[in-house]
Amino acid sequence: MEKFIINGGNKLNGFVRISGAKNAILPIMAASLLAEGKSVLENVPQLNDIKMMAHLLRIIGARVDFNNDVMEIDSTHCSFCEAPYELVSKMRASIYVLGPLLARFGEAKVSFPGGCAIGTRPVDLHLQAMEALGTEIRIEHGYISARSSGLKGNKIDFKISSVGASANALMAAVIAKGKTVIENAALEPEIGSLIEFLNLMGARISGKDTRRLVIEGVAKLEPVRMKMIPDRIETGTFLAAAVITGSDITIENCNPDHIKVPINVLKKIGCRIDTGSDLIKIKSPKQIKPTTIRTLPYPEFPTDLQAQFTAMLSLADGESRIEENIFPDRFMHVAELNRLDADIGVINNSAVIRCVKKLSGAPVMATDLRASAALVLAGLAAQGYTEISRIYHIDRGYDHIEQKLQKLGADIRRIKG
Ligand code: EPZ
Repeated sequence: MEKFIINGGNKLNGFVRISGAKNAILPIMAASLLAEGKSVLENVPQLNDIKMMAHLLRIIGARVDFNNDVMEIDSTHCSFCEAPYELVSKMRASIYVLGPLLARFGEAKVSFPGGCAIGTRPVDLHLQAMEALGTEIRIEHGYISARSSGLKGNKIDFKISSVGASANALMAAVIAKGKTVIENAALEPEIGSLIEFLNLMGARISGKDTRRLVIEGVAKLEPVRMKMIPDRIETGTFLAAAVITGSDITIENCNPDHIKVPINVLKKIGCRIDTGSDLIKIKSPKQIKPTTIRTLPYPEFPTDLQAQFTAMLSLADGESRIEENIFPDRFMHVAELNRLDADIGVINNSAVIRCVKKLSGAPVMATDLRASAALVLAGLAAQGYTEISRIYHIDRGYDHIEQKLQKLGADIRRIKG
């Protein structure tokens, strides 16, 4: 097992280039199962979750070639409609094959996702959407078995906004017979990007970037080529890295429109931020002002930046609060941050972040993807050495984070455990 060793205290400077968005790419990879032939995805980083999804598509029978940042998926010879336990237990996003397999083959068997480090994560909305489109679902022996003799368009009204359920509903509805209307669909840019991909394939989805999506089913989709959108969470993580180390950096190849609310938070705590069409320049304040944040579905503050902003606000000049409204138990990073001398408490679904003058290096353990990123940020600012174990979590969703940070001037090394 590999570890990061960080000698904290260096200022960052220069440029960092943002990679393609993992959470946009995973559903798009699954969507390429919908058309026979070869789809080509550009700007795809070599992340472990993406490699795991490629492995799942190969099990299903697709041919996947992944070189540099281009992925080719040829779904012509797919026939095995199953996402096995070994994969789903490692990556919940495997459930994204449910909609496409049902739509193309009329059947799918997906291991029922279990617990997760960030809390309870039910899949009832995914299943309700499939049932609304005419699927018979059975849960047995730890698997979701879904079967349909032909999907039919219907109305799907989500009681809460869900990224994953919206994606699955879209991927099933595009080749269902007739019209589907999805109410309260997720607005996240990753859903917008999936809609673009599906429409490029020949789907007829209208209402992109609104909560009401109307899908006119088509008989067949064609394989396509598309460039993947930049990762807004990686962008926000580097912004927080700049602030916690008191640095000024430029972030390239990003989409500032996708993180307007986090940018406003950074302005409120004293940062100067200038944006271009695909870049952000951040100048950090000498003293971070405390603030209050509430995570909510897009376009509000993303849960996927909660841990990183918690780390950053531990050095603010006063008490901050972050209320977590998406995954109320997503606070595994707090105890580890406190090992680095942060002073953070959790009350119900809120982190109360009291001001400390400095953080100090210590051995800590990564518990999930964004928690690991928070520990890296804290380690960059801490005095002395921080050793982070179980960094396989961070490799799931950050593309060579240590190399990008080294280029910015951080003293961070990856070592074999
Ligand atoms: C996606 O997960 C992301 N994962 C998560 O990113 C992200 O934290 C989350 O959206 C919220 O933005 C991927 O895109 C692969 P949801 P997803 O369905 O789709 C409840 C990361 O760090 N819900 O939008 O699973 C759920 O409990 C990861 O990159 C139901 O009740 O999230 C939550 O409270 C972690 N029933 C809310 O909806 C369901 O059937 C939103 O979850 C589905 C969800």
